[in-house]
Amino acid sequence: MKRREFIQFLGGTSLAASQMGMLSSCSQFKTLKKLPFVPVSPSKEDQLVLADGFNYEVMISWGEKINSAGEKFGFNNDYTALLPFKGKSDEAILWVNHEYPDPTFCSTRADRAKSTIDKERKEVGGSLLKVKKDSKTGNWNIDRESPYNRRLDMNTKIPFDSGVKIEGTNTAIGTGGNCAGGVTPWNTFLTCEEVYVMFYGDRDRVTRKFKREKLRWDLHYDHPPEHYGWVVEVEPLTGKAKKLTGLGRFFHECATTVALSDGRAVCYMGDDTENQCLYKFIASKPGSLEEGELFVADTDAGKWISLDRNKQEILKKTFKNQLEVSIYTREAAKLVGGSPQNRPEDIEINPRNNDVFFTLTNNKLKNNWHGSLLKISPKNGNHESEQFSSKTFLVGGESAGFSSPDNICFDPKGNLWLASDVSGSKLGKGPYAAFPNNGLYYIPMAGPLMGNVYQVASAPVNAEFTGISFTPDGKRMIVSVQHPGEKSKSLKDLKSHWPEGGSSIPRPAVVQISGPSLEKLLS
Ligand code: FEO
Ligand code: CA
Ligand code: CA
Repeated sequence: MKRREFIQFLGGTSLAASQMGMLSSCSQFKTLKKLPFVPVSPSKEDQLVLADGFNYEVMISWGEKINSAGEKFGFNNDYTALLPFKGKSDEAILWVNHEYPDPTFCSTRADRAKSTIDKERKEVGGSLLKVKKDSKTGNWNIDRESPYNRRLDMNTKIPFDSGVKIEGTNTAIGTGGNCAGGVTPWNTFLTCEEVYVMFYGDRDRVTRKFKREKLRWDLHYDHPPEHYGWVVEVEPLTGKAKKLTGLGRFFHECATTVALSDGRAVCYMGDDTENQCLYKFIASKPGSLEEGELFVADTDAGKWISLDRNKQEILKKTFKNQLEVSIYTREAAKLVGGSPQNRPEDIEINPRNNDVFFTLTNNKLKNNWHGSLLKISPKNGNHESEQFSSKTFLVGGESAGFSSPDNICFDPKGNLWLASDVSGSKLGKGPYAAFPNNGLYYIPMAGPLMGNVYQVASAPVNAEFTGISFTPDGKRMIVSVQHPGEKSKSLKDLKSHWPEGGSSIPRPAVVQISGPSLEKLLS
């Protein structure tokens, strides 16, 4: 496509800055005529099985020391992202989310004593790790001695943005449930608090009645549940963080931002629960997500509905102020007509044409077992537009070769990677008989193979692949392997021994993928 046609294709003047940068590299998008590897078949092996011409090595696994202060890499690694370190091409800061602790492994006891809970509180949040490319092997390795390596966990004090006070204080203690995330156009990380209720429960807006959840951290800590369920912005070099209250509070899966030409950002988000909604936030100032307007998607009408209390009578009647709308976003979204979805998970923007891809993983309440990928095309390619068209891009199922799409990532050549998340208790059973373990898939986005789904990897027993990202040189893929052996009833009855094998306990770990087949896809 010629440059002029491409600009028209993207929607002319509404082009995001990041897409402008992309124009110069659009000729580098990869259109495959033939697949350079033989896809793997679904497997039930307790291994990270890879197609021919792909290799992996573990970068870091749960419990490893990350700095001289003795801080340790947390449990259940999820989202990963890299930002260049001080402008260097071969150094970066890697962010890794730690979603939730599994008492079987983290505290080894089912009791809810304070000492047990204190162990678990250190396992969630995120890790910042300095990485450097090895000029001989091309692999990106963690510098274990770097002073930039640090943890955020449930003990880290994190202020709310703009000095906002919630339940009487402007600072929350800790972050948890960190599932997926995003990076901002100004190079900070976003980490999303998903199933926050598992830690301190939740509370009804009107009656203030508590709903308690299994981890029961509220037994020893009286942290307000309203302090969790936010998107948290983290500076890569300092670890300084803030909770972004304008982006709403719900089961935040991810936060995918795109820059407008004036430097303001638009952030797309989803609420990972059956029949919850898709959101976007349009910032009102460049370089910040502190102020702006939150919208919920009406996918039937193809429009974004404002959650600005001053624009919606029903919100004015129901909520005291805009902060209350934010704290109870789900309730507000339903009042204005947000469309219920099949558990929104990851969101990514197609670099070829500005379409926004949403994974809808499944919805057991509607007997939707395999989920789909939804594609939203903003009107005129303009992410600020309140109108869009939408279309289902792929539907999961045995014939499609995948089920329950969760994490997605466009590679540097504009093709799509997808990871599935069939829950550990259902893998290989009933509607999931064709899917004994979860997988990682490659989907060409142009040419004769466009939209075909090819399995590249099979995860160890009970695990899912999460947090797909690429190193700044575009040569290595980084992937989390989360919750191997999660169905183990005790340390004496283990369902997985990955990655160490033998009789070892399973460990969530971050791996880096390389090899000639990957090189062919990324060259
Ligand atoms: Fe943590 Fe929505 O997966
Ligand atoms: Ca997820
Ligand atoms: Ca999931």
